[in-house]
Amino acid sequence: MRHCGLPMQVIEAVRWSPDGGGVRVIDQTKLPEQFEELDLRTLEEVCEAILGLVVRGAPAIGIAGAMGLVVSLQPHAHLPLGEFRAKLAEHAARLRETRPTAVNLSWAIDRMVQRVSEPGGPPQSSKYSAPPETLSSSLRTPSQILAELRQEASAILAEDRAMCRRIGEHGLPLIPANSHILTHCNAGALATGGIGTALAPIYMAAEAGRNVEVFADETRPLFQGSRLTAWELSRVGIPVTVLADSVAASLMRAGRVDLVIVGADRIAANGDVANKIGTYAVAVAARYHGIPFYVAAPSSTFDPTLASGDEIEIEQRARSEIANGFGRTIAPDSARVANPAFDITPAELITAIISDTGVHRAPYDFSGVGDGQQCISAAKIVAAKKSNRSVCASSEVPIPAPNSE
Ligand code: MRU
Repeated sequence: MRHCGLPMQVIEAVRWSPDGGGVRVIDQTKLPEQFEELDLRTLEEVCEAILGLVVRGAPAIGIAGAMGLVVSLQPHAHLPLGEFRAKLAEHAARLRETRPTAVNLSWAIDRMVQRVSEPGGPPQSSKYSAPPETLSSSLRTPSQILAELRQEASAILAEDRAMCRRIGEHGLPLIPANSHILTHCNAGALATGGIGTALAPIYMAAEAGRNVEVFADETRPLFQGSRLTAWELSRVGIPVTVLADSVAASLMRAGRVDLVIVGADRIAANGDVANKIGTYAVAVAARYHGIPFYVAAPSSTFDPTLASGDEIEIEQRARSEIANGFGRTIAPDSARVANPAFDITPAELITAIISDTGVHRAPYDFSGVGDGQQCISAAKIVAAKKSNRSVCASSEVPIPAPNSE
């Protein structure tokens, strides 16, 4: 049986606008009620879209950031080279800091900057893309730099699409026929340039006729599971049941979950994984019930500069997302609110990490991941990262001041 209501690739969460002057994104804040696409053309528009989760999911924000750098610099192509380069640095810094936890964003921005700053040419090309044509740096004008940046952003998108497929292929053998699979948040096509990460093996299993069913945690407080995962699976005919987050453990106890697959925002060198808040609780419940717990992520999500998940910065989001979510006040003004967007799942709770490079199991050795590209750029940025970012240890979730935004 083929679940072929619509081809998987029809969801394009982020791409160039037809005139090339904008980043076209699906407005994910409107789903599932409305399907609306927006063309982001300025630095402000791109930063606001990333911050506001119009475009979201670790790989998708990396792609949007890279494309956003290009379109936001386009109006400045007439500037003298020195001023243009100053704009490039300013825009890159603004985009990079919009969301701190998903390493894909800083990885993509650093890769873009590196592409046009190295006298020796671009960083080592990925196995997924043709080697780019690069001008010698001394010949570059702002327009030529822009052309190279556009080529790099397009490569990041194309590579992500290819990595999603590889994740699907590597994950497929882990999904037996008639499986009931639980997932958290949305790590599907809406979150990537391709068919997703956690959802990629599920799409492929469905295509192979394995008759899979999905339990989608609703994923409080912003409901990426019920709004987005359920939407994208339903549209291709994959059976999906939405759960309040608190239901997952008792479904496991009832023997109704065969395996769990989730995505990741950053994977530390020891295999600890940052992902959407609530992932850790799912992993603890899965371990208690003896259910395999898989993480699926592309090479661009691995961060070899961090020894463990304790070093991953956890994004703290606005009080209003908890206290006034979706149009109602659901906590008194006097109550304090904690709203960390992500948590850390320790490596010991993870059965395996499915990547484009294969299925990794403990003890983890990610040295082949990304053909070393992550390691090369990571080594260059590690000092800067360590000096100017405030690291919030994952074990201490800071409680914002009352009523703070
Ligand atoms: O806050 P979000 O919606 O961007 O969080 C998304 C997640 O946590 C995903 O699981 C993760 O980015 C992987 S997406 C392939």
